[in-house]
Amino acid sequence: MVLSYVTLFLLILSLCLSLSLSLSPLSLSQAGCVDMPLWVVLLMVCICCVVFDVELQPLLNYSSVSLPRLHLPYFLHNNRPLAKACREDPLCPFKVRLESCWGYERNCSPQHRFSYPVCTSVDPGWASSVQAAQEIFWKQADFGYVRERLSEMKTLCKPLNSGESFLKCTSHMRFCRATNLYLDLREPRRGQERYKEDFLQKGEIGGRCRLNSAALEAEGQHKSPLQSWFAELQTFTELDFHPIDDNHCDLIIERPTIFMKLDAGVNMYHHFCDFANLYISQHLNNSFSRDVNIVMWDTSLFGYGDLFSETWRAFSHYDIIHLKTYDSKRVCFRDVFFSLLPRMRYGLFYNTPLISNCQSEGMFRAFSQHVLHRLNIEQEGPKDGRIRVTLLARSTEYRRILNQQEIINALKTVALFEVKLVDYKYKDMPFLEQIRVTHNSDIFIGMHGAGLTHLLFLPDWDESCYRDLARLRGVHYLTWQKPEKVFPQDKGHHPTLGEHPKFTNYAFDLEEFMRLVMLAADHVMHHRDWRSKQTRDEL
Ligand SMILES: *[C@@H]1O[C@H](CO)[C@@H](O)[C@H](O)[C@H]1NC(C)=O
Ligand SMILES: *[C@@H]1O[C@H](CO)[C@@H](O)[C@H](O)[C@H]1NC(C)=O
Repeated sequence: MVLSYVTLFLLILSLCLSLSLSLSPLSLSQAGCVDMPLWVVLLMVCICCVVFDVELQPLLNYSSVSLPRLHLPYFLHNNRPLAKACREDPLCPFKVRLESCWGYERNCSPQHRFSYPVCTSVDPGWASSVQAAQEIFWKQADFGYVRERLSEMKTLCKPLNSGESFLKCTSHMRFCRATNLYLDLREPRRGQERYKEDFLQKGEIGGRCRLNSAALEAEGQHKSPLQSWFAELQTFTELDFHPIDDNHCDLIIERPTIFMKLDAGVNMYHHFCDFANLYISQHLNNSFSRDVNIVMWDTSLFGYGDLFSETWRAFSHYDIIHLKTYDSKRVCFRDVFFSLLPRMRYGLFYNTPLISNCQSEGMFRAFSQHVLHRLNIEQEGPKDGRIRVTLLARSTEYRRILNQQEIINALKTVALFEVKLVDYKYKDMPFLEQIRVTHNSDIFIGMHGAGLTHLLFLPDWDESCYRDLARLRGVHYLTWQKPEKVFPQDKGHHPTLGEHPKFTNYAFDLEEFMRLVMLAADHVMHHRDWRSKQTRDEL
C-alpha cells in the first residue's frame, strides 16, 4: 500500500512536470498543478484515496490466470501482449523476471530456464560425460521433453484459406491439434471396447484443408489405444465443405476442447499419468485456461470409475464429457487438442526408462505446484522447527507393516517429530484432504504401492521413496538399506505366480528404522527451502 501511494504521488508529480514542460509559459498557470504547493498535491492524493478508497492496482489482474506466482513470469514470457502490458505497467511485480522461460522456448537462454537436471555420476551405458547425461535426462523427463515434441510438430492437413481447418501432430500422432474439426457421430459403432480402432469411417472425421495422406499414413507405427491417436485420426478426411461456415454441423462447440484417452482411474499412479500428460500437453499448446471442455474419448457406453476426480478442477471448470454425449449428431469443434497419452513408448511417466544418477526439480515440480495451486492446497509449515513425519498405512491384504504400532510409538518418543499415521482410503478421507496431508509432510514413509504417487505433492525438501518418481519430482529418496533387517511374514502369495515378495507383509527392525528416519530428518533440516521457510516464519 505505502508503495502504491508513493507511486501514485510520483505519477501525479511527473504528470505535472511533463505538463509544465510541454506547455508554453502563457498557459502555464492553466495547467494548474504547477502552481500548487507540494502539500496541496499530497493532500489531494490522500483525500482522493480516502474518498474513493483507491487501492492502486496493477493494470492487469495477474492472479486471474490462476497460476502459481512462481510460474507467472514464465507464462508472461510466452504471451507477448501480456509481457508488453507488464513492461508498461509500473506496478507489474514480474518486470524484472520477464526473461524467465521454461526451457523449451526458441528464445530461452540457459541461465533463465526454470530448471536443469543434476547428475551425480555418469552411467556409461547412457552417456560419456555428466553434461551429456544431464542433457539426456532433460529431454527424457524435464522441459526438454516439451522441446523435443514441439520440434516434431508437422502439419498433416493444411488450410488453403484463412479460417479453414488444420491438423498438426507430433511424431506417431501422440499429440495433435486441430481447428474447425468435423466429427460425424450420427451412427456411432459403439461396443464393449473402450478404444475401438475402427470406430470412425472415412468422412466421419475431417476438416476443410489439404490433406497430406502419405504423411498421415507414416505416423501409424505406434498405433495402440494409450500410445497414439492414429486409430482415431487415420480416417481424417479432406472435406469439400467448410464444416461450420457451410452449415454441416448439428452442434458447434465454440469452447476449446481437449480430447483424452484415460488410463485406470482407480489407481493413483496410472491416473496421474493422465494428469501429468495433460499438463505437458498444455505446455505444448501454451494454454493453461480452465475455460476448456475435456472430452473423454471412449467408444463404449461405460462410465468411468474415477477416485481422483477432484483433480480435474485443476484443468477445467466443467465436468468431464463422455464422447457418447455427442452421439446422433454431427459435431464441429472450433479448437481442439488431442492430449499426450499415458502409456506412450518412452513417454512419461509410466515405464519410462530413465538415465540413472540424475534428478530434476523441473517439469514435475511445476506440475505439482500447478495442481496444488489450483486445488488451493496450502503449505502450512514448517512448524516451530518440528518435523512432520507421516507414515502411510495400507489396509490392503499385503504389504502392510506388521509392527506399525511399535514404530509409531518409537517415532513419538522423538520430541523433534510430529507424527501422523494415515490410511488413504477414499471413503474415509477425501482425496484433496489426502493431498493436503501429503503436502504437509516433511518425511513421508510408505510401502511400495500406487499410494506413493502422493510423493508428487510432497514439499521440495521432503524425504520419501518410490525412486523414479522421486527423481522426476526432485525430492530426496531414501530406501531400506539392510535386507537382513526386514522380516517378511512368509514367502508371499501371488495369485498365479506362487511365492512373491510383493504379496506378503513385513516387520521392520526398529533400531534400523529409526536410524533411517533420523537420516531423513537430517536431510530435511539441511534443505535450503526448509531452512528459509523456517527463518521467515520466525520473523
Ligand atoms: C483478480 O482475479 C482473481 C481471480 O479471478 C479474483 O479473485 C480477484 O478478486 C481479482 N482481483 C481484482 C482486484 O479484480
Ligand atoms: C490452444 O492454444 C490456442 C492459442 O494458441 C488457444 O486459443 C486454444 O484455446 C488452446 N486450445 C485448448 C484446447 O486449450
